[in-house]
Amino acid sequence: MARVLVGITGGIAAYKACELVRLLVKGGHEVVPLVTPGADRFVRADTFLALARRSPADDLYAHLTQADLLVVAPLTANTLAKLAHGLADNLVAEAALAHRGPVLLAPAMNPRMWAHAATKANLETVRSRGAEIVGPDEGETAEGEWGLGRMAEPDEIYRRCRKLLGESDSLAGRHVLVSAGGTREPLDAVRFVGNRSSGRMGVALAEEARKRGADVTLLAANLGVPVPGGVEVVETPTAQAMLEQALAHGDADVVLMAAAVADYRPAGVSDEKRPKDEEAWNVTLEPTIDVLRTLGERRTNGQVLIGFAADHGERGLARAREKLERKRVDLVVYNDVSREDIGFDAEENEVVLVETDGDRRVGKAPKHRIAAAIVDRAEELLRERTR
Ligand SMILES: Cc1cc2nc3c(=O)[nH]c(=O)nc-3n(C[C@H](O)[C@H](O)[C@H](O)COP(=O)(O)O)c2cc1C
Repeated sequence: MARVLVGITGGIAAYKACELVRLLVKGGHEVVPLVTPGADRFVRADTFLALARRSPADDLYAHLTQADLLVVAPLTANTLAKLAHGLADNLVAEAALAHRGPVLLAPAMNPRMWAHAATKANLETVRSRGAEIVGPDEGETAEGEWGLGRMAEPDEIYRRCRKLLGESDSLAGRHVLVSAGGTREPLDAVRFVGNRSSGRMGVALAEEARKRGADVTLLAANLGVPVPGGVEVVETPTAQAMLEQALAHGDADVVLMAAAVADYRPAGVSDEKRPKDEEAWNVTLEPTIDVLRTLGERRTNGQVLIGFAADHGERGLARAREKLERKRVDLVVYNDVSREDIGFDAEENEVVLVETDGDRRVGKAPKHRIAAAIVDRAEELLRERTR
């Protein structure tokens, strides 16, 4: 999840920054609003904190927060001058000095202020240091004058933010279904049979698809990592819940089944906790319905269906190839769980993308990079299918 500092300075257009904050939050970004005293006269800082779902206590040193992007919208002539000269007498000016990373500025002011030589010189100074400028647009200002000076529209500023954050629209209009985590199959009212999957890989896939503009549904099975922003999360704690929700969302354009779904579950589960005694507890495990195979049998709409296989060594890789055929999926992402340094509950992974025409190895890398390689391939398959 990218963290974005949003500076709001004292112009009428401060009200439009509410929409920008809302778009950023909806898009799955963490927003830290920084409001100058000048801006607080127009829209109270509390409004921005509420829209960003933060409390003032979160932000003792908000201006020093490390962030992926600083956007100032609206940018007044006054704050532009401060940025050009390195002043640091309020939250926004301080943040601009402390921030290392891309900067996007959305100036908004009276057309005569905008045309002034001092403003022009200040703009050139900040631009020469790498800041990007969006707008201003031409139109009628709040005081009824006509000219260049209106702040760019929030959706345009948001579009530029996404670009600076390395996000794209390559999956815009597409529905991507991702499963993540590990199911837990109840033994009784309190105990379960589970597995070590943290959900990191699936969450990385969901975030990657969202960054590319997809509508993402995440089937979350007992995640050990935070849920990503900007995606629809559906809790699917058991194999049965996973099956039902996967079928309910079965018309997705791309399905990435990364969750570790139990192959077996205890038969005859008690509603109560089994009391402790001296006897052995023999449990019969019955097979669950195979979610991936069911999706493979039912798909009709040119959907790209990708499964995951966690197995051991070269023999496991051979089983992943069989799985590809048997479950009628386009690709199986093979994960060698005999290695301690990758896979289950690890930060990094190394996978083999198994397809009918051969294997592609993706070298050891953080899970978000592996996710990008998998989503790249999913996109290629989608393009081939819809060509
Ligand atoms: C009603 C009103 C509207 C204003 N609108 C703007 C504006 O759109 N752009 C601008 O640069 N200054 C505008 N100002 C002037 C700024 O509020 C003023 O320069 C202030 O010191 C800016 O402080 P800040 O940059 O720290 O937020 C406006 C002032 C008033 C009273």
